[in-house]
Order: sequence, then C-alpha cells, then structure tokens
Amino acid sequence: MGALEQEVQLLVDRMTVSKVEEHLTRTFYRGTVAGHEAVVVYSGIGKVRASACCQFLIDRFSVDRVIFTGAAGALTPRLSVGDIVVSEKTTEWDFQSSVEGHIWHQADPGLVSLAKEAAARLHRQCFVGSILTGDRPVLKTDHKHKLLAAFNADCVEMEGGAVGLVCRLNNVPFVLIRVISDFADESALQEFDRSFSKVAPLPTEVVLEMLKEM
Ligand code: ADE
Repeated sequence: MGALEQEVQLLVDRMTVSKVEEHLTRTFYRGTVAGHEAVVVYSGIGKVRASACCQFLIDRFSVDRVIFTGAAGALTPRLSVGDIVVSEKTTEWDFQSSVEGHIWHQADPGLVSLAKEAAARLHRQCFVGSILTGDRPVLKTDHKHKLLAAFNADCVEMEGGAVGLVCRLNNVPFVLIRVISDFADESALQEFDRSFSKVAPLPTEVVLEMLKEM
C-alpha cells in the first residue's frame, strides 16, 4: 500500500499483473512480485482512506501481511532527506478520547528486521523508529517540537497509524517503510516538492529487496 500513485508505481511496474480490479474508486493490482502473490494499491491520503483500503485488502483479498510505503516529515534531528524509517511502532497524534489513551501499534518484528536488512544491502541510511500519523501535514516548527516532546517519535505522516490500528484489530502483521521528504517545518512544502520525485521510489526499492528474503 501507499498513499499516492507515484509511491506505488514502481512496484506495479515490477509486478507480473494478473488482474486489475476497481473497488472503493481505487485500482487494485493483483499478481506476483519477486515470486510473492501480492495486491498493490494506493489508498489516497489520510487515515480514513488508508483504513478503508487496508480493511478491504484484508476482507476481500485475505492478505496475510501489509507493507505501507511512502514519504514522511522528519521530527528528530538525526534524520536527513532520503533516509529510510522503518516502523517499530506507530500511533495517531491527533486522536483524543476520554475513554482510551494513546495506543502504540507495534509493527511485526520479522518484517521490521527484513526491511532493515534490505535497506542495509542497498546501502541506504535506515532507522527503526516510531512513526506518528495525523490527518493534516505538520508544517510548523513549534508543532513539530510539541509532537516530539509528547511522543518522542522519529517522523510524521498521514496514514501509518491507521494501517497499524486496522492490522492490529485484524491480527495481521504490518510494517511501514517511509522515506524522509522534508523536515515538518515551514520549509516542508517546498522541500517536499524538491525531493519527492527523487526519494519516492526508495521505500519500494527496499520492499523489492526484502521480498527476495521472504
Ligand atoms: N508526509 C511527508 N511530509 C509530511 C509532513 N510534513 N507532515 C505530514 N505528512 C508528511
């Protein structure tokens, strides 16, 4: 899964597609990638679209693992544009409830190791860390610092926490593989525009590499 067409296109290009299906106004590509049966789809941006798509993958296609790829804004200073972040865990930063506290959704340790080792084989700078998700982009330094202080997370994006929750509810292992596209500050939109075409294929390269070892 990815949020944007460009984020999954490389995988579709590398796939032997056996069937193309339209559901939820999305295109689901079924076939094999690196010897594995797979369904590839871009969900659209945000938690609701990602949740709908993820639940559909589980219900209709009985997927037994979910890998979500895409870009993210860096929260911690250790990250640079082009670095890969593999989710150890993920949560929603904009969810508040009087009955439920913040729950981190743990990614599957086996998938995390495979992704980390694949990134190393590709000589990519890769960190295993915490990924925050919200339904609006983080574009201000003070917002970024507040999130960092509250969650001590590495990066922020707009779908992973939802995918983590849906996978946890369905007992399906998942991992998020993100590439840093910006610094989640006032320069984020400009930086994203500048870096996106260069960095967007990198998480897919990690997926293709990790599939060889699965
Ligand atoms: N994805 C990439 N950059 C982002 C940001 N700054 N905030 C939320 N999602 C992002």
